[in-house]
Amino acid sequence: MKRILVIGAKGMLGGDLMSVLLSSFPNDEIYGWDIEDIDIQKEESTFLKVEKLRPHIIINIAAYTDVDGCESNEDKAFAVNAEGAKHVALAALRCQAKMVYLSTDYVFDGKKREPYLESDPPHPLNVYGHSKWKGEQYVQELMKDVLIIRTQWLYGRYGKNFVNSILRQASEKRILSIVNDQIGSPTYTADLAKAISTLIQFDARGIFHVANSDLCTWYTFGQAILKLSRMNKVKVIPISSKELARPAVRPSYSVLNCQKLKKETGLTLRPWSEALKEYLSADRQSMSGTDR
Ligand SMILES: NC(=O)c1ccc[n+]([C@@H]2O[C@H](COP(=O)([O-])OP(=O)(O)OC[C@H]3O[C@@H](n4cnc5c(N)ncnc54)[C@H](OP(=O)(O)O)[C@@H]3O)[C@@H](O)[C@H]2O)c1
Repeated sequence: MKRILVIGAKGMLGGDLMSVLLSSFPNDEIYGWDIEDIDIQKEESTFLKVEKLRPHIIINIAAYTDVDGCESNEDKAFAVNAEGAKHVALAALRCQAKMVYLSTDYVFDGKKREPYLESDPPHPLNVYGHSKWKGEQYVQELMKDVLIIRTQWLYGRYGKNFVNSILRQASEKRILSIVNDQIGSPTYTADLAKAISTLIQFDARGIFHVANSDLCTWYTFGQAILKLSRMNKVKVIPISSKELARPAVRPSYSVLNCQKLKKETGLTLRPWSEALKEYLSADRQSMSGTDR
């Protein structure tokens, strides 16, 4: 029997990952910790806590994920996303646990204009991307066989996300402005959680890109959310990132090439539009999806 520890278990991905692991590893012990159980910024207490449990696998999905907030809170971004990742990796080394670290498409600058391979050199544009890349570097330097999973544009039922934000705004306004010059692949946390579980079952090591298939801009994604929610009367206006003027610069293109996942596990995540349809129908009760 294995002990599998998820750190960041109460976050958006964490909720789905916990249920997937509980059903995929029925004979193992699954532990879900979050900030109230362990603060990965604190090296000594992270060691003590982890050593007490002696897990066989640690999945570190804890992070400071407020991309704009990271710009004005650089210290916190690096303390959690980079130093925190290092502390967890050192704790994993001490108990010889296998380590999984979640990273992001924002390690790339978007200049490639073709889907990014795992081997493409990172060049982050914002503090969040820098801090996550530093986290990748730390865990790779410390552990040769770590599994790093880069993903992007997450939404799911356990956290604040773009889909819910569009639905909320559409229930309040007649016109929405959405950015149309960033291209990526919206990814449903339920699908990502299954892929993480599969990669663990395959004992995968190294870097893997994991995202739902097909690409779009936030504008097209927004239109699809409204159409599927039958909010056809809300007008959507495409705007540029410059017009939106958010504190953190985002890559204009951050599509991830997920062929390595397919090659090594046979898995391809379904197109984002199918995943979105399922998410919206599953959560219709709890969201403001009324006709207008
Ligand atoms: N969201 C995306 O679009 C996206 C895209 C690419 C990659 N990722 C990566 O995927 C992973 C999961 O993302 P997510 O969206 O599920 O994140 P999330 O919802 O923000 O969840 C992260 C969890 O980590 C906790 N946490 C923060 N600081 C911590 C600390 N010092 N010690 C222990 N726990 C701490 C958070 O608690 P609080 O909420 O109390 O802070 C939260 O429960 C992250 O590694 C993220 O970088 C996310």
